[in-house]
Amino acid sequence: MNALAHKRILLGVTGGVAAYKSAELVRRLREHEAEVRVVMTRSASLFIGPQTLEALSGERVYCELFDPASPSAMPHIDLARWCDAVLIAPASAHLLAKLAHGLADDLLSTLCLAATAPIVVAPAMNREMWLAPSTQVNRAILLERGVRFLGPGEGEQACGETGPGRMLEVPEVLEGLAAVFEPALLSGVRVLVTAGPTREAIDPVRFLGNRSSGKMGYALAEAMREMGASVLLISGPVHLPAPRGVERVMVESAADMAAAVTSRVVDCEIFVATAAVADYRCRAPAGHKIRRTGELLTLELEPTPDILATVAARPAAPFTVGFAAETEGIDGGLADLAGRKLVAKGIDMIVANHVGEPGQGFESDDNELLVSWHAGERLLPRAPKTRLARQLVPIIAERFRAKGQAQGPGPTSRA
Ligand SMILES: Cc1cc2nc3c(=O)[nH]c(=O)nc-3n(C[C@H](O)[C@H](O)[C@H](O)COP(=O)(O)O)c2cc1C
Repeated sequence: MNALAHKRILLGVTGGVAAYKSAELVRRLREHEAEVRVVMTRSASLFIGPQTLEALSGERVYCELFDPASPSAMPHIDLARWCDAVLIAPASAHLLAKLAHGLADDLLSTLCLAATAPIVVAPAMNREMWLAPSTQVNRAILLERGVRFLGPGEGEQACGETGPGRMLEVPEVLEGLAAVFEPALLSGVRVLVTAGPTREAIDPVRFLGNRSSGKMGYALAEAMREMGASVLLISGPVHLPAPRGVERVMVESAADMAAAVTSRVVDCEIFVATAAVADYRCRAPAGHKIRRTGELLTLELEPTPDILATVAARPAAPFTVGFAAETEGIDGGLADLAGRKLVAKGIDMIVANHVGEPGQGFESDDNELLVSWHAGERLLPRAPKTRLARQLVPIIAERFRAKGQAQGPGPTSRA
């Protein structure tokens, strides 16, 4: 399905090095049969020539609010009424600040004030500019008002620094934009997602942990929310902000996570366990800091509760999706391991990923997923986790419906 076909997209381009990506964006939008009109800020036209975007869009490019040569006396109103969505890519820090505060001193910011269509932004800037308190406050204001953010991603930047602030690549921007027009696959469905690592105390200052960053679970929670679900996220300790519109409960240990899941799972129709929950914990954590003695120290470990299997074994279990992080690759037995886990835990779907590979899995932005259920499997090739999440949700939604649980028993019958 091509959600962008025949959609009228107003592409706003602002002044940053990533403006070169807007040329590719226009080409790809037209390949998806979207109609595109481009509005550039003055700064943007110093980074990429309007002629390039004019040639690629097949339309005149709009730069000025007061333009005697414009066919329209009020281009800001006409363009705002014309479009089905405003996509600003790249979106500068300056543009985000103007949008957040309702400034209207050029064509792009003025038409955004006049637009009733959804506004989608793909920020691009130096990491310090992105992390600056004023930019973060502007982001929060815009999110609150329903502006959709695509990225930014993390990585090497034009200024030579590394960190958050890179504009997403064109395919990801297109997918994020298409999501605006896609039907809400999980409209009204109640979902519980677990994410992140757990910490098992050794003493009051030390713990056993793992390398999970929580990025996959947070991306899934966000994608499910975007697709209409009501999402509760139970998260181990991570440094990620709660996705917009998602209720979040923070926990620390496997026991805390098990308790939080047990008390809330009764309300959910889909349970997605992405958290890397410790399999073992210290049997008797020390009540005081353990001192160095030079002697061998043995920690006695005991198994933690198996949250996934416990949920799957409930009398009116939700549609249950487990994640398996394995060190075996796709060709090295990952499918077998995933299949065995699917059966052993009695769950509906398992999503296996290969960790320990440079650049994917734990602590990384990318992943490769093998999705297996009782009657089939799909490989989602290596891609950013945000993109994989958007690919995974329709598969979960389809299997959930196939299992006939869309109209499943309500919360009261799940005691
Ligand atoms: C070489 C250069 C690169 C820049 N790159 C960015 C950028 O990536 N992101 C950003 O927010 N601002 C960047 N700026 C600053 C903006 O161009 C500047 O804030 C400008 O006022 C933005 O105007 P606009 O939002 O109207 O396009 C850059 C400036 C220069 C000189």
